[in-house]
Formats: sequence, structure tokens, C-alpha cells
Amino acid sequence: MHILVTGCAGFIGFHVCDMLLQKGHEITGIDNFENNYSVFEKEQNIEDLERYSDFYFKKLDILNYQALREILINNYDLVIHLAGLPGVRESILKSNQYIQSNVIGTNNLISGLINTKTRNIIFASSSSVYGNNPYLQKAKENIITKPLSPYGVTKLACENLLYSYYKSYDFNVIIKRFHSVYGPRMRPDLVIRKFLFNVENDNPIIIYGHGDSSRDYTYIGDVTKSFEGSISLLNQDLNIYKTYNICSGRSISITKIIDEIRSICYKNPIIKYKQSNLMESLHTLGDYKKAERELGYYPSMSIRKGIEETYKWIRNNAYSNSMKL
Ligand SMILES: NC(=O)c1ccc[n+]([C@@H]2O[C@H](COP(=O)([O-])OP(=O)(O)OC[C@H]3O[C@@H](n4cnc5c(N)ncnc54)[C@H](O)[C@@H]3O)[C@@H](O)[C@H]2O)c1
Repeated sequence: MHILVTGCAGFIGFHVCDMLLQKGHEITGIDNFENNYSVFEKEQNIEDLERYSDFYFKKLDILNYQALREILINNYDLVIHLAGLPGVRESILKSNQYIQSNVIGTNNLISGLINTKTRNIIFASSSSVYGNNPYLQKAKENIITKPLSPYGVTKLACENLLYSYYKSYDFNVIIKRFHSVYGPRMRPDLVIRKFLFNVENDNPIIIYGHGDSSRDYTYIGDVTKSFEGSISLLNQDLNIYKTYNICSGRSISITKIIDEIRSICYKNPIIKYKQSNLMESLHTLGDYKKAERELGYYPSMSIRKGIEETYKWIRNNAYSNSMKL
């Protein structure tokens, strides 16, 4: 297949492209090298992907509608849309930018596809669309969505935009609600990398709240596997709009993450506490049964092994051991 991947220089983008290229697909990747974190890391990802002869990269901002249309003219078998500004905390400070990049960017992409032959789209949504999950019941895809942050609102808006285009223009749409993805090459703002880096360097780690908040952490290798089933489903030529949780189905507290890091790094973390932010969910926990049934998705990585893999990557890559270059 010829696949367009937006946001290919990012954490998930790199791994998805890498997996698809290994499977023999041809990839066109676009990314604007947004400077929300180290551009050097993004360039490094592209350099690694450019080792494949079937990878073609163009630096492009999806907010630049004219330039985007020139790329979209190529008629792709599938578009995997990962580009955008990620993260709850930053979105509280930069809501305007998030709305621009995520909502306007997605609208540019999908409206630019209307007059092309491309009809298959996979969109990176987030567990943030659910808002808080106080009773730690596994959230199914059809529960009421009540995002707490501007980031979650932008993801839900994109889901709804995609639905409206699906209805009018016969697109096939798969929405993937990723839950706290972690692993090698993960973003520096994400908890597991931040904690590993700080513990390794004897810096304090900051806990927002009391350490009892929890997340459904999903290993990147499990996330990339979910794309194989999604592509098979899209190849069945159905007219679909489907939403799936891509998660591990277990919620792990910050305290448990710190315990794992303590025993993996053989160091005692210095912990500082700060007030939690009400726009951040206290708990996230997803139900992946629908993805298991329909995509053959099954998350197999244990949190211990997943953190060990991430730690190995941090130790083996000089740049990953710095928070911002
Ligand atoms: N990592 C997670 O835990 C997680 C969880 C839920 C959802 N998601 C979503 O998955 C996607 C990928 O996340 P990630 O963790 O790899 O983030 P990332 O920041 O590493 O990757 C996003 C990429 O998009 C690019 N980008 C941003 N704005 C752009 C624009 N206007 N034009 C072109 N490129 C642009 C960035 O440069 C970056 O390389 C995002 O949409 C994110 O919201 C991620």
C-alpha cells in the first residue's frame, strides 16, 4: 500500500512508519518539526526512516493548506493522521495553538482529501476524550465523552469532524483512542521518560497530587501492532466509521511506576509533590475488547518489561538522556 503518515517524525509516527516499512509498504511522511520538544530527536527519527528506500519525507505544516493539497493529490491507499500538538498539561497554557494545530489541521487534511481518490483514514485520538474515570471502570468506546482539557476537546472535535466528512463523502474512518503510550523514543514530557531521566541523574521527580493518580499505560510495540488489524479491516472495502480504545486494560498508579523505576535503576528517587491540575484526569482506564474482537488487538507487554526497554533506550542513546537539546 502507499500510505501517507502525518506527524511521522514524532514518537508514535516513527514507530508506525518503521513497522509499516518493514512490512513492505511505501510511506510518504510529512511533519513540520514542531519545536514543542527537541527538533533534533525528530530529525534523528527521520534520518533513521530514510534508511528505507520506500520512505519519502517532506517537511510540511498541515496548517499550510496549499502545500498540503499538493501532497494529497497523490491518491493514497490510506492516510494515518498523527500530526498535532500532544499532551494535556501544555494544552492548558496554549489552548489556541492546540485548536489551530489539531482541529484546523485535521480539517485541512480531510477537506483536502475530498476531491482525491483517498478514502481510508486512521486518526490518533486519545483517552483524554473520556475525561475523568473516578471509579476505575474500564471505559468502553460508547460511554459519554467529557474531556477535561483543551487537548481532549480538540481530539473529540476531530473525531466529530471526521464523522461528518465520513457521512457526506464516503470516507472509511478508524479512530484510535491511544492511552498513555510509552517506550523507546517517547516524548520527553511523558511521565515514564521524565521519571527515568530524573532518577538516573539524581534529580527530584515531581508528583502532581498524592501519587494515587493512575494511567492506562500502553507500550508502543502494542500500539504499532494495532495498525495491522486496522489495515486488514480497511482492506475489506466497507463503509465504516469505527472507534477503538488502544490501551492495556490496566491502570497503574504513579506510586507503582516509581517503585518499578526504583528497582530498575537501583536508585532511590527524590520526590517532590505539587498541586494537581483539575484539567488532568485522576485516572484513565480503557476497555480494549472491541479492538480485540475486530482488529485482533491484544496488548502483551508487561509494565515492568516496558519500562526496562525504555530505560535501555535512554541509557544507549546520548540524546535521549537529555530533557531538551
Ligand atoms: N503519546 C501518547 O501517549 C498519545 C496518547 C494519545 C494520543 N496521542 C496522539 O498521537 C499522535 C502522536 O503522538 P506522539 O506522542 O507521537 O507525539 P509527537 O509530538 O511525538 O508527534 C506528533 C508529530 O506531529 C508533528 N506536528 C505537530 N503539529 C504539526 C503540524 N501543524 N503539521 C505537521 N506536523 C505537525 C510534530 O512535529 C511531531 O513530530 C498525536 O496526535 C497525539 O495527540 C498520543
